[in-house]
Amino acid sequence: MTALRYITAGESHGKGLAGIIEGIPSGLSLHADDIDRDLVRRQGGYGRGGRMKIESDHAEILSGVRWGKTMGSPITLIVENKDYKNWSQGMSSEASAEGAIPAVTRPRPGHADLTGALKYDHRDVRNILERSSARETAMRVALGAVARKFLSVFSVRVGSYIVQIGTRKATDDVQEVKEKELLDLFSRAEGSPVRCPDEKASRSMVKLIDRALREGNSLGGIFEVFVTGLPVGLGSHIQWDRKLDGRLAQALMSIQAIKGVEVGLGFEMGRRFGSEVMDEIFYMPTRPHVVKGGNMRGVYRKTNNAGGIEGGMTNGMPVILRAAMKPIPTLRKPLRSVDLITKEQIAAAYERSDVCAVPAASVIGEAMVALTVADAFLEKFGGDNMSETKRNYDSYMEYVKKF
Ligand SMILES: Cc1cc2nc3c(=O)[nH]c(=O)nc-3n(C[C@H](O)[C@H](O)[C@H](O)COP(=O)(O)O)c2cc1C
Repeated sequence: MTALRYITAGESHGKGLAGIIEGIPSGLSLHADDIDRDLVRRQGGYGRGGRMKIESDHAEILSGVRWGKTMGSPITLIVENKDYKNWSQGMSSEASAEGAIPAVTRPRPGHADLTGALKYDHRDVRNILERSSARETAMRVALGAVARKFLSVFSVRVGSYIVQIGTRKATDDVQEVKEKELLDLFSRAEGSPVRCPDEKASRSMVKLIDRALREGNSLGGIFEVFVTGLPVGLGSHIQWDRKLDGRLAQALMSIQAIKGVEVGLGFEMGRRFGSEVMDEIFYMPTRPHVVKGGNMRGVYRKTNNAGGIEGGMTNGMPVILRAAMKPIPTLRKPLRSVDLITKEQIAAAYERSDVCAVPAASVIGEAMVALTVADAFLEKFGGDNMSETKRNYDSYMEYVKKF
């Protein structure tokens, strides 16, 4: 049983999305604006399809918050689908609306369409694609914003930036050690149309997206998510499902189209000698900034190849994760497929689609990481109200300083 539980519901063209998060202590200041800020960030990025021009997401808080403060009860969020007005019959829950729009019978390769239709016994693929669509991630981002707000009370920050789109790579060495440099990469990424801190690479990525758009094709890429300010000792080495690296990998991998996750140097570790990979441990009698970051007094590392996690536990260094996203599977120049009813070889269905959504995926990655880290944080420090959580946190930090 986790300390923080959450669940989402809703279809891509249904009335809206709903989410419930339970386990946030009482007394946390929370406003719809805190959530909307991240919803706007998710909708951005060069290469998005027409849908994003229709939607301007806003979260309504339905429960769990009174007069700007959490009450300790489950927090329910709703994000309306503005596009629903065009789908009110096609997505109606009423039996009388059946057949209002034609069935989708041409499954798209790379989607949940074919396997989902078979598994759930649907002849209309819409019954699958409506839920497998990444529209659902708007609610993950909304819930993630709540986790982010909780973490901010403890000066924990979560950010992300893009390091690759297609073949175009950022040249910046992103394996940074220091909090300040990570935050700098993040703020530069926020100003880039593709959320890439390297300006030259950004321009090149935009050009490649334009080419994919012209050719009816699509692109994927790689992004990094970091967390700064985490105390040492979140997660645990003692059991497979308590290991924080495993939990973070699952959280990121669960995002639509994410096909690979790395922690720190990740796969590169497999290509190097041990002496080139491990982060050696040093001691200096007073290193107050390290203490502030949550590390043990005087003990520090010069490198962060581990990406802030050793033995499934945070080690006080920034957590650094990388995720690879495959290209968008719906192509304007469609791939070959088979009609579910006639069994004819035909072109896969095309529905207004993104050409590249890596920048948006990185914001979703932040949300999933914030939720996972907040869960590990509450597991360690507990607390039904924020004062209690803070007391527990402060006392642990005192202990760490004296260790
Ligand atoms: C932010 C984001 C936006 C996406 N937009 C689209 C899209 O417009 N069209 C599409 O076919 N797939 C899109 N996808 C990818 C599909 O949702 C995903 O590939 C599909 O659900 C199958 O899941 P899988 O790739 O994890 O196997 C998007 C994914 C993300 C994270």
